[in-house]
Amino acid sequence: MKTKKQFQSPKGTFDILPEDQKYWEKVRKVVARVALGYGFERIDTPIIEDADIYALAGGETADVVEKQMYVFKSKGGDMLALRPEGTAGVMRAFLEHGMAQLPQPVKLYYIAPMFRYEQPQAGRYRQHHQAGFEIIGDQDPVYDAQLIHMYLVVGEELGLKSLSIEINSIGCAKCRPTYRAQLLRYYRSRTAKLCKDCKRRIKKNPLRLLDCKEEKCEQMRVNAPNLIDHLCQECHDHFKNVLEYLDETGVPYVLNPHLVRGFDYYTKTVFEVFLEDEHIEGGNEKTHQRAKLALGGGGRYDYLAKTLGGRETPGVGAGLGMERLIGVMKKQGIKAPPLYKPEVFLVQLGVLSKKKSLRLFEELRKAGIVVAEAFGKDSIKAQLRSADRLGVKMSLILGQKEAIDGVILLREMETGAQESVEMEKVVKVIKERLKK
Ligand code: HAM
Repeated sequence: MKTKKQFQSPKGTFDILPEDQKYWEKVRKVVARVALGYGFERIDTPIIEDADIYALAGGETADVVEKQMYVFKSKGGDMLALRPEGTAGVMRAFLEHGMAQLPQPVKLYYIAPMFRYEQPQAGRYRQHHQAGFEIIGDQDPVYDAQLIHMYLVVGEELGLKSLSIEINSIGCAKCRPTYRAQLLRYYRSRTAKLCKDCKRRIKKNPLRLLDCKEEKCEQMRVNAPNLIDHLCQECHDHFKNVLEYLDETGVPYVLNPHLVRGFDYYTKTVFEVFLEDEHIEGGNEKTHQRAKLALGGGGRYDYLAKTLGGRETPGVGAGLGMERLIGVMKKQGIKAPPLYKPEVFLVQLGVLSKKKSLRLFEELRKAGIVVAEAFGKDSIKAQLRSADRLGVKMSLILGQKEAIDGVILLREMETGAQESVEMEKVVKVIKERLKK
């Protein structure tokens, strides 16, 4: 089939091109190093899961589940979803593989793509990546604080400046019913002013009203009763302890009583990570709504395991948005080391030398030397130009005569000085020169 169509990556998705890979590699390395330092092991779950997992975990009225999920029916008739978030799948894996039998808590991390059918705009994509951390099997507030601290450590090790944490507690099954009643009382007389979605949400799940991004609903939220004033003793003490541990580790945080998160699975502590004064802004030209975008967010989810059919197992976790993180790194001028930095360039001239060069290239590569070539080019000038462009320290020049004599010319690129080296010794000589 022939087509004249100019194909592009699907709306809201983008290619990560070679020139950007160094930033991704830097973030992946720092995340893995910090994760291991805090005792996290990596987990990879499938990109597709049973769609019910997200409806049960996140809540049917959560925007991500209700409006943004990519759901499809498989040929076998299963309703599957492209993973919109990582926590539900990790908890499914925890339960499926009996990880409750392991010493608790189990600390797991992942770096994975997520899919949400968003209205694409700066910092909001239909495919994004998260570095996620989950601590499952312990309800001690020390872990909430450790996780938040870890986030700052990731930021620090990446060289990011002015990260700040907003934190809140959204209570538990004990304190929420009373609060829910208060919230209903507050909103009942104001229902007419709510957006269409919130009018529906108020019947199913009034807490969700606090998470609405519509300006009129956000304004109404300002005077709504705060959950933090209605916490039961247990949640109150838990939150107090989290804050004390944060104080102890010197983590700067701001209490935000309006912070609620987009999924139903959260209990007690919730938090988000922002840049201190300069918020990454996502704009929507039509509505003039400019929401500040978080670099990451998370919280405690003590009922999630039970919701997914397992034994009650506490957990706390968070996800960092990799695209937003890399965007900030670039904005703050943070450098990432290049991934491809050849040290030697192999120049060949003539049929015999090209053949010999192939073998020499392999020997150099096996010896751990990063060697570049332009085997497709025949002129010495063109090849040396490529060598210059790559900024190599040395070039090896193999002409017909050298190939017959079993030698090679070694050229120091900075000075242009050349000398003849025996073919058998060349790897050793190059290694020594590179050490200097
Ligand atoms: P979330 O707040 O939905 O939480 O996403 C975490 C982070 O992913 C956000 O703070 C943001 O940086 C990034 N992010 C989310 N959506 C997009 C998007 N459309 N485009 C670009 N970046 C985005 C979760 O997903 C929870 N599973 C986090 C968690 C882990 N909670 C407990 N454990």
